[in-house]
Amino acid sequence: MLSYRHGYHAGNYADVLKHTMLLQVLQLLHKKNKPLVYVDTHAGAGGYSLNDEFAQKTGEYIEGVGKIWTNNNLPPALQQYVDDIKHFNDGKAELDLYPGSPAFVDMNLREKDRMVLHELHSSDHLTLAEQFAGDRQIKVIKGDGLKGLMAAVPPIERRGVVLIDPSYEIKTDYIDVAKAVMKAHKRFATGVYMIWYPVVDRAQTEAMFELLKNSGIKKQLRIEQAIRADSNEFGMTAAGLWVINPPWQLDDIATQTLNYLDPILNKGDGHIRVDWEVGE
Ligand SMILES: C[S@@+](CC[C@H](N)C(=O)[O-])C[C@H]1O[C@@H](n2cnc3c(N)ncnc32)[C@H](O)[C@@H]1O
Repeated sequence: MLSYRHGYHAGNYADVLKHTMLLQVLQLLHKKNKPLVYVDTHAGAGGYSLNDEFAQKTGEYIEGVGKIWTNNNLPPALQQYVDDIKHFNDGKAELDLYPGSPAFVDMNLREKDRMVLHELHSSDHLTLAEQFAGDRQIKVIKGDGLKGLMAAVPPIERRGVVLIDPSYEIKTDYIDVAKAVMKAHKRFATGVYMIWYPVVDRAQTEAMFELLKNSGIKKQLRIEQAIRADSNEFGMTAAGLWVINPPWQLDDIATQTLNYLDPILNKGDGHIRVDWEVGE
């Protein structure tokens, strides 16, 4: 039984970094005029109301997108992120709707690109399927995303981005993600894999990365934002993306983005990191 619903967390500080980096990966890959596929293993509902009972109950978005929404002079990556959210809100000044990862990608999908979305939760799957019904570029699958990933690679385009964004409700999720990525990478070694991760228990998170670091896979970049020091008291103290095969310059863009976000979102003893954990 799945209890996680992304509606409680949409637009929080982890989403700000995740979606900003996702948009940049797409933009950098789009510099080549060749088709690509986007695979979302844990797609969520596709879009969220920040005025509904879920978002209002936690108010997490206020400490995330709410902190930068009206700022001037944003770095370019955050400006694109905010512009896309405004577009999703039909240009209205009020922050009402928040796009999920599939919607952010949809706003940037070229005619030659495809999307494959997986979601297991019945209600969120239904909302997602309705949002993209009739769109021939987009396939929405109700099922386990890590299994779906194996079916999706290698893609016919031989170019693609895989976002792996589980809720990590089950402790084994961390290790399962690492194993799935290693298996997928054997079939599709040139794909860009973006693994979103929380830091709730640092040892658990790092166990996943130890497997990946020792896998023989090259080019692994960590992009992390901690709003507090590691601690078992506060729930999620940090979140980040572990990117395999990041496009050229993503590291610099991540650094510029985090340098801007850190003073705004850090609760005092957090940190930011952009580290090549495995090089070429
Ligand atoms: C963090 S949310 C996804 C958020 C989304 N990627 C975004 O950025 O907007 C994780 C989602 O994974 C779904 N989920 C949980 N286990 C799953 C599984 N085994 N396969 C596919 N989806 C799953 C949950 O229902 C939840 O909607």
